[in-house]
Amino acid sequence: MPKKLAGQIISLILFMLLSINILIFFFFFILTDFHEELENRINNGTYIDQMADAINIIENSQFQDDFSLSSFRVKFYVINTPLFNSEALTTFNQTLSQNLKAKIGNKYPNAAMQQLYTPQSRISAALKHFIEYVGRINTDETKTYSPSVILQSQVQLTNGQWVVMLILDIYPFPEWIAETLKPLLLFSIIFILFSIIIVLGITSPLNELAKKANKLGIGEKIDEIKLRGPMDVQNVIVAFNNMLKRITNVNDHRARALAAISHDIRTPLTSMRLQAEFIEEKDIQEDIFKKIDEMEQICEATITFALQDSWAEKTRVFDIVSLTDSLCSDLAEQGLNVYFELSNKIKFSGRPIALKRAITNLIKNGVEYGNSAHVSIVNKKDVIEIHILDNGSGIPADKMEDLFAPFERLESSRNRDSGGLGLGMAIARSVVRSHGGEIELVNIEGRGLDAVIVLPLTPA
Ligand SMILES: Nc1ncnc2c1ncn2[C@@H]1O[C@H](COP(=O)(O)OP(=O)(O)O)[C@@H](O)[C@H]1O
Ligand SMILES: [Mg+2]
Repeated sequence: MPKKLAGQIISLILFMLLSINILIFFFFFILTDFHEELENRINNGTYIDQMADAINIIENSQFQDDFSLSSFRVKFYVINTPLFNSEALTTFNQTLSQNLKAKIGNKYPNAAMQQLYTPQSRISAALKHFIEYVGRINTDETKTYSPSVILQSQVQLTNGQWVVMLILDIYPFPEWIAETLKPLLLFSIIFILFSIIIVLGITSPLNELAKKANKLGIGEKIDEIKLRGPMDVQNVIVAFNNMLKRITNVNDHRARALAAISHDIRTPLTSMRLQAEFIEEKDIQEDIFKKIDEMEQICEATITFALQDSWAEKTRVFDIVSLTDSLCSDLAEQGLNVYFELSNKIKFSGRPIALKRAITNLIKNGVEYGNSAHVSIVNKKDVIEIHILDNGSGIPADKMEDLFAPFERLESSRNRDSGGLGLGMAIARSVVRSHGGEIELVNIEGRGLDAVIVLPLTPA
C-alpha cells in the first residue's frame, strides 16, 4: 500500500475500475454464451433450412445477390470454386450433408455441410483461447487465432457457381478483450487525472501546514495560511491560524514585558549612580560604578534581544559574499584577527542587517575564544554555508546546545574579563532560523571551532 494519500486514492480507483471490469467481463461471458443455441441449431437442422432457403432465393432472384442474406453470425457468398473438399467427411458431417441434399432435392448433387468444431461454453472457450494467446506472445503468430468458423456449407448451383455459408463464432478471444481494455485504460487515465486534482487540493494545503508548523516549531516567523482546500482541511487551517495568532501575541507580549522591565530598571540605576557619587571610600565607589555599568549593559542588551523580533527590516536580494567581505574588513580595521576567503557572488534573499549581526557575533566569538576567525562561503546548490573557523579549543559537544540559550556562557568565559553577556549566539541563531536556516557547531581536530551558518537558497 502506498504511503502518500495520492497514491492510496489512485490505487483505490485502479482497484475499483479493475474489479468492476472483471465483473462486467463475467456478465458479458454469461449473457453472450450462445453455445447451446448454436448446437441446437446444428442438430435441429436450422442451418440446413437456412441454406436451402438461400439457394432458393439466389436461384430465383435476378441478381444472385449474396449480401442481403448474410447476418451477424451467418455469412453467405457466391463464388466460382468450391470452398472445401467434400470427399473425406466424418460420419457426422456425412449425415449433415445427406440431410441437406434431402432438403434441397436432386437438382443439386454437389452439396455438403461440415461442422468445424463444436460450439463451446464461452467461458471455457475464452480461457482456452487466452492460454493459447499467452503461449503465442513474442512469436509471429500473436496476431493469428484459432478458426472462428463453426460450420461451413457449400452447394453448387445449376449455373455451376457455388453458394457458401459460414457460421461464425463471433469475437475471437482475446481480440475483443483488447477492445474492452482500451476504454478501461482511457477511463483509468481520466479518473486518475481527476483524483490527482482532488488529492492535490487536499494534500497541498496539508503539506503547507506541515511546513509552516515545522517553521513555527524552530522559532521562525511565519504568516497566516491562506484558506483553501475542502471544508475539513479549511477547518484545520483556521485552527492553525488561531493558534499562530495566540502564540505570536503571547511572544510579543513577553518580549515587550521583558523590554519594559529592562527599561524601567535603568531609572533606579541612574539614581543609584547619582547617590554613589557621595560615597567617600573611593574603592567601594569604583566597585559600585563598575557594577552599575554592568547592569546597564545587561539592560541594554536585554532590550535589544527582546525587541529584535519586532525589528521591521525588509527582505531584499543582495550579494551575501560582498556583504560578508565588507563586514570582515570593517572588523579587521577595528583590529580583530579576521580573514575572509573571497569567492564568487551569491545572490541571497533575506534581511542583510540582521544577517550581518549574526555573522558578526560568530566572528567576534571566534576572535574572542579562538584567537582568530577564518571566514569562507560555500555555495552548495540548495544551501549556502558560511564557515567561521577559529584557532581555539572548541566547545564540548554536550555544551553546544546550551550555549545558544540567552545568557549562557562557558565557565572559562565567566572568569575572564571579556565583557560578554551570553547573548551573541542566541541572537545569531534566532536571526538564522528566521531565514529558515540553522547554525551548526563542529569541533575541528587540531584547529578549533567551525561555526557554520547554513542558509537555504530560495530562488529570489
Ligand atoms: N568560537 C568559540 N570557541 C569557544 N567557545 C565559544 C566560541 N563561541 C562561543 N563560545 C562560548 O559560548 C559562550 C556564549 O557565546 P555568546 O552567546 O556569543 O556570548 P558571549 O560571547 O557574550 O559570552 C561564550 O561565552 C563562550 O564560552
Ligand atoms: Mg559572543
